[in-house]
Amino acid sequence: MTSPLLLPYDGPHLRLPNRIAMAPLTRARADDATGVPHPLAKVYYAQRATAGLIITEGIWPNILGKAGPGIPGLVTDAQVAGWSEVTEAVHAAGGTIFAQLWHVGRMTHPLNLPGGATPLAPSAVRIESERIYTAEGRVEHVTPRAMTTAEVEATIADFAAEARNAIRAGFDGVEVHGANGYLIQQFLAENTNRRTDRFGGSREGRIRLAVEVVEAVAAEVGPERVGLRISPDNPENEIAEQDPQGTYRALVDALDPLGLAYLHIIERGAYEALADLRPRWSSTLIGNFNGPEPTSRRAAEEAIAAGLADVFSFGRLFIANPDLPHRFATGAPLASYVPGLVHGGDAAGYVDYPAASAEVPSLGSRFSGSTITSRTADLRPQPR
Ligand SMILES: Cc1cc2nc3c(=O)[nH]c(=O)nc-3n(C[C@H](O)[C@H](O)[C@H](O)COP(=O)(O)O)c2cc1C
Repeated sequence: MTSPLLLPYDGPHLRLPNRIAMAPLTRARADDATGVPHPLAKVYYAQRATAGLIITEGIWPNILGKAGPGIPGLVTDAQVAGWSEVTEAVHAAGGTIFAQLWHVGRMTHPLNLPGGATPLAPSAVRIESERIYTAEGRVEHVTPRAMTTAEVEATIADFAAEARNAIRAGFDGVEVHGANGYLIQQFLAENTNRRTDRFGGSREGRIRLAVEVVEAVAAEVGPERVGLRISPDNPENEIAEQDPQGTYRALVDALDPLGLAYLHIIERGAYEALADLRPRWSSTLIGNFNGPEPTSRRAAEEAIAAGLADVFSFGRLFIANPDLPHRFATGAPLASYVPGLVHGGDAAGYVDYPAASAEVPSLGSRFSGSTITSRTADLRPQPR
């Protein structure tokens, strides 16, 4: 029986040759002085172009949202030019690629920011239990500075400008990073958002940044080119959500009418987000499990078969298996990645993981005539 992961997907706004997405993976190899992606990024992403959809590593919309050394931006013309090479290479290889828009909020450090700036956050709540990676090694977090209302509004505009740059750079769409304890989830969570202005104070206040960023980005590039990633109940980066069901039901209900490309849910905590939110979301749903082991093919197949997601994203497996769909299709063994070569560095551990077969894109007749060859048409808004 054909794996549901290998079947084409024909959704409201996305037509994909398979249901395997490459999850966003920070590789920290950009030129740290310019924020321009590494010259090999085009090779790395093109090698993975048989994914139904590639979502890039997180990319900052403002340098104050930069996590640490080697994280790329999408603000300057040089950065746009660097990403244009990536999108050209992926498209030439038949792939579809969205850029992930990522502001880290308090998850950075003055050593990572220009002029030793203090990290921004909804409220001045410091990370206590973890250390943060900088060019000088791992150090204690500092107390972030609570953003003014005007700074929050300026950040929404930064996301919209980044989305515009992404389309200029040839991306097929953008994914707003609302997950994993970064800026947007810091606004969503009760323990990190103690604001009393319209961006805090109540459930409606806490979801407002996520809603307004998505609305602004959608107004800029069209809702059919916009996805949102969330990780309800995620404890990472000292997030503690008291009422994930209430928060995320309200968020999803606010965003569903916009007609977005997709919602990307990382299921991690006790709250069964996929089962709870799937019935409330009428567009494409991408699932992901962020457990101690990489999401397995079987877990993803079961979730799709159960109707919990339309597409599943794989992160760690894509690091060492550039041709993951081919390996799933043929049963070829899965390679493991070298942990020390994930972040930073050069070609090693980046573009030197071989394909299982010399003919990577040759996925058999199941894929011939698929939308991969008519990418632009695939992303045209489809009648709903
Ligand atoms: C090295 C690495 C880098 C990651 N970078 C990002 C990122 O930039 N943005 C993001 O949303 N998630 C990021 N993640 C989370 C992954 O997208 C994914 O949710 C996680 O790896 C779980 O999926 P998996 O079990 O298939 O690996 C990263 C994970 C890893 C292992």
